[in-house]
Amino acid sequence: MKAIIEQLTQAFGPSGYEREVTDLIRELVKDHVDELRTDVLGNLIAIKHGSSDGKKIMFAAHTDEIGIVVTYIDEDGFLRFSPIGGVGITTLVGNRVRFANGTMGVIYQEGKTEWKELTLDKLYIDIGAATKEEALEKVSIGEFGIFHREFADLGNRLVAKSMDDRIGCAVLVEALRRIEKPKHTLYCVFTTQEEVGLRGARTAAFGLDPDLGIALDVTLTGDTPEARHMAVSLGKGAAIKVKDSSLIAHPRVKDLLVDLCEAGGIPYQMEVLERGGTDAGAIHLTKEGVPSGTISIPTRYVHSPSEMVDLGDVQACVDLVVALAGADLDGVI
Ligand code: CO
Ligand code: ZN
Repeated sequence: MKAIIEQLTQAFGPSGYEREVTDLIRELVKDHVDELRTDVLGNLIAIKHGSSDGKKIMFAAHTDEIGIVVTYIDEDGFLRFSPIGGVGITTLVGNRVRFANGTMGVIYQEGKTEWKELTLDKLYIDIGAATKEEALEKVSIGEFGIFHREFADLGNRLVAKSMDDRIGCAVLVEALRRIEKPKHTLYCVFTTQEEVGLRGARTAAFGLDPDLGIALDVTLTGDTPEARHMAVSLGKGAAIKVKDSSLIAHPRVKDLLVDLCEAGGIPYQMEVLERGGTDAGAIHLTKEGVPSGTISIPTRYVHSPSEMVDLGDVQACVDLVVALAGADLDGVI
């Protein structure tokens, strides 16, 4: 599974430009699903049919990653930019940006800026161009870029950019490869534009009208030096969401996930996320409402170019998705 995670996290996919990622996923799952289609917003929908008395389960993992868009190029060839998604300013100075055509740039701060006064408009990107004309040969106004960083295999733990949420995509891909004949019909949606407001999941859920919605996404941890109190740690299993800013998990869905972990010996932990949301926030408000929950992959350093996950946790999340595909949902939804 490491190879798939490496492949997915190295792909280019800022919000709105996820095509490279969805093309990759299409290749990875095409022999393991009954139908594959793409909708107007670019969501890749992989369908695996269940038995006739089964329900419709929508799984969502987002393909997009945070990034930047070029807003201005000055006479000396330096770029100014605007963030795409929740970009943390402390992660930027000295880091690199990569554009779709492979152009690389260094983010740095204006010379006079004090660290504590740092704001995004005090930062620029240097793509090695000496003039505006030279810069325009490599990038254009309105071009999207991502934060470039290579994948690193630390053993049981892996580090990469865009683990948020390529790790969720990898969990779904791996589950689809493992599930032979699901009880329920699975709509695995590799969603677009999550980082800018859960946009792809909204239209996909409307179109699919599922009986149950499950997002797979990263969550924060409380296990690093002086971390904010949070009862989620790397290596302690799949995190079952209780709530975040976008969703209060449906109690019966949350309990079902816990029961499946207990019955299957899958390590899990309960997650209360104080800020942030996932695609389940959009799914559960679709039409007359969809009972929804989230399976979270504990991740350190979220929204930095070095997001860290634990392989045991990832495996637990795959096991939970597989268990859910065959679960008895009578009395739950
Ligand atoms: Co995110
Ligand atoms: Zn995410």
